[in-house]
Amino acid sequence: SKNLFQLAIDGPAASGKSSTARIAAQRLKFEYIDSGAMYRVVTLAALRQNLSPLSLDDASKITYLAATSHIFLHTIFNPPPISHTSSSKPSLPQTLVYLNGEDVTHEIRSQEITKNISGIASNPDVRQVLVEKQRALANGIYDYEGENSSFKLDTLRKSPKGIVMDGRDVGTVVLPNADLKIFVTASARVRAIRRYKELQQQQSTTKKPLIDFNKVLEDLEKRDKSDYERKISPLKKADDAVLLDTSDMSVMEQADNIIELVLKRAKEKNFDL
Ligand code: CDP
Ligand code: CDP
Ligand code: CDP
Repeated sequence: SKNLFQLAIDGPAASGKSSTARIAAQRLKFEYIDSGAMYRVVTLAALRQNLSPLSLDDASKITYLAATSHIFLHTIFNPPPISHTSSSKPSLPQTLVYLNGEDVTHEIRSQEITKNISGIASNPDVRQVLVEKQRALANGIYDYEGENSSFKLDTLRKSPKGIVMDGRDVGTVVLPNADLKIFVTASARVRAIRRYKELQQQQSTTKKPLIDFNKVLEDLEKRDKSDYERKISPLKKADDAVLLDTSDMSVMEQADNIIELVLKRAKEKNFDL
């Protein structure tokens, strides 16, 4: 197969992984693989079957769901502007997520899913199933159709030059031989402010009750703790990952930093990007 440049980006929630991975993918003509979306999809599938992510009795049923679900990720690069009056802020590539043919893009980002994900993410058998799919996608197998399961990365690109995958264990477990690993961080307070602003924006369009900043910070710290401390594949900087503290960076600055690191590494390794 083609020699795809593999970029792994790991870090805690709201460290800016997905926004900057998308911008980098757009500019470098890479495919973008959202590993977190896969854990979210399995969590949704489990909750819909009334399976409890924390119950040992349900663990093998959830693993079966992970193995047999049809997971379909579709990243749209350069979406057209919604109207000529839209703001000057450039829109980021969006990833649409489908579970067994149904569009669950918004549902998998809900608080209900985020709250229940740690039970799924600490199930070693579920991880094994998803890691296998993630490795296949990273190696250019974008369309897998098995007897009971399928996964697909809808790619309209004729010839991607690489892939970028973001998550928690991409550099340590999924792609230990990635061409470049980046571990992004920012203080918990900065990350909570980012999340809070996102929630505020969502709120201005719906009419939900006011959110409390301290609750956002608390939830984020709880998720940090479960990601850093779980036994299997905890969130951890790989020894050979570049550490990038983004506390004082804008999204664009963070993306520029990442792209610069990729281009430098690509040159050293004779990739033609
Ligand atoms: O965007 P955010 O960082 O909030 O979340 P995400 O990347 O969608 O990941 C959601 C959760 O899935 C994380 O808190 C992890 O528990 C889990 N996850 C994981 O265990 N391994 C990955 N490679 C990606 C996500
Ligand atoms: O994927 P992850 O959870 O690591 O973070 P994200 O979804 O890319 O970013 C979370 C929020 O922080 C988004 O609203 C970004 O626009 C914002 N952000 C920021 O303001 N400054 C950065 N340097 C990175 C992200
Ligand atoms: O085909 P080539 O790799 O040269 O071009 P591209 O810029 O990677 O993709 C061509 C067009 O396909 C873009 O303008 C995107 O709108 C669209 N595209 C998409 O919708 N979803 C993808 N995953 C990749 C590309």
